[in-house]
Amino acid sequence: MLAEPMAGGSSADRRDQSFLPREGAGLEVMFHAAVQRFSVSAAAESFCRAIFLVGFRRYCKKTSTKLRVSEALSGAELGSDVKVQGWVRSVRPQKDNIFLHVNDGSSLQSLQIVAGAKLNDPLLTFGSAVEVTGVLKKSPHQKQPVELEAEQIRVVGECNPIDFPFKIKERHNLEYIRKLPHLRCRTNAFSSLLRIRSEATAAIHSYFKDNGFVQIHTPIITSNDCEGAGELFRVEPSGPDYVDDEDFFSVPAFLTVSGQLHLEVISGAFSKVYTFGPSFRAENSQSRRHLAEFFMVEAEISFTESLEDLTKVMEDMFRSATEHVLAHCVEDVDLFHRHVTPGHRDTIEAMLNKSFPVITYTEAIEILHRHSEKFTFRTDWGCDLKTEHEKYLVKHCGNVPVFVTDYPYDLKPFYAKDNQDHPKHTAAAVDLLVPGVGELCGGSLREERLDLLMARLKQVGLEDTYSWYLDLRRFGSVPHGGFGLGFERYLQCILGVDNIKDVIPFPRFSHSCLL
Ligand code: 4AD
Repeated sequence: MLAEPMAGGSSADRRDQSFLPREGAGLEVMFHAAVQRFSVSAAAESFCRAIFLVGFRRYCKKTSTKLRVSEALSGAELGSDVKVQGWVRSVRPQKDNIFLHVNDGSSLQSLQIVAGAKLNDPLLTFGSAVEVTGVLKKSPHQKQPVELEAEQIRVVGECNPIDFPFKIKERHNLEYIRKLPHLRCRTNAFSSLLRIRSEATAAIHSYFKDNGFVQIHTPIITSNDCEGAGELFRVEPSGPDYVDDEDFFSVPAFLTVSGQLHLEVISGAFSKVYTFGPSFRAENSQSRRHLAEFFMVEAEISFTESLEDLTKVMEDMFRSATEHVLAHCVEDVDLFHRHVTPGHRDTIEAMLNKSFPVITYTEAIEILHRHSEKFTFRTDWGCDLKTEHEKYLVKHCGNVPVFVTDYPYDLKPFYAKDNQDHPKHTAAAVDLLVPGVGELCGGSLREERLDLLMARLKQVGLEDTYSWYLDLRRFGSVPHGGFGLGFERYLQCILGVDNIKDVIPFPRFSHSCLL
């Protein structure tokens, strides 16, 4: 009988353990060695063999390679015993077999599972979570390169298909799934979006890393209102120990609207920096391009000479990230370009094939005046452009991203550099407008001249609040500038998604903070 050897036995015990295989040998070797050593009877041998087979099967199960669906689909493990875990996307029982499609979020494509009818289980339903072990085989069907011939299927989590809000053969639109933020990641469209979002994030970080930028973690809680627009969420403690009339930070504190001013601090010692994180704006807007919480990519560059130093980075980053996403998320992007916005692929390719035109704000107003009958809102020099104007300018310039520069000085926050021009007084600011969305990026050269900056801050009564910011101009000030890109608007732009709430996992906007 094969006994489990005890660790640390007598020297005789240790001798008796000589049948044990050396490290790396299989159970099979162990069995034959044991039979020979103990010269057992035929009956004992067959008993031992049965025990051995049970052990061997368990051993095999334990060592099935755990694969993600995308790894299984790559075909690299053909013929291997594998284990795949995921959620059932389709169930097709037939007389002799049952076919399942299992997805684990690693790719748009699901893995086909083929199982004998005896493995059918009424709990194997659309949406249920399963663990499947079996052998990966080349599939006889053209639709998938490989399939998993199941030896065992375990239902890990049941899903009642009647109550489940997604139905097996229905294509649910973005509006419907938006109402189910806790479940929508289980749909093809939203899981594609999440993979694209992740890949685009990585591409943006790579762009900055490859171009010598240092990432800075700018704070989420801040005591400044960078944009000066007053769209702030105040941060206060809440709980039994909180004393109502006391500021936790001794000053009023807010969720950041932009990391720009903190980036400017660091750009006093680092010539190229960036940040990529959440920004918060208490905008009372239900529009298709505004959120109360969104992600912003911001860059700050020291020793700039003109706005061109900024527009070059904006354009290069846009191209580099978009080319990366198109090359690395082929099926996921295709899903959007085919089913959500047919024809959008051509728009994207046109964007990537042409360089982005540059017009001044003054030229933009002239164009808009020439076509004023097309707009609901009138525009005069000095007014902010509305979305309809931005979208029109993009179309006018060939439906490619367009830079609009040199905005009226009075429209821009205190930090924007004064162009000191007359009679139309402008600031060295630039917006990038893109097809379907309008404004994607906003940036400017920063006022680096102490006297001019001080005068402007005095004018708005912020001289004391921003004394630290004035210090940046006192000690080694250099011409510098930067911009911010709204990450959700970027995704809307490349995928052609109309509503910003469809490109962020958990949208926050006025009167809605689900989950
Ligand atoms: O133009 P904005 O307000 O610029 C700034 O915040 C600068 N401080 C950035 C900088 O220079 N470092 O915002 C930048 C971009 C906008 O162009 C837009 O794409 C996006 O952020 N954005 C929003 N996205 C979604 N929801 C909102 N409420 C947004 N507000 C701005």
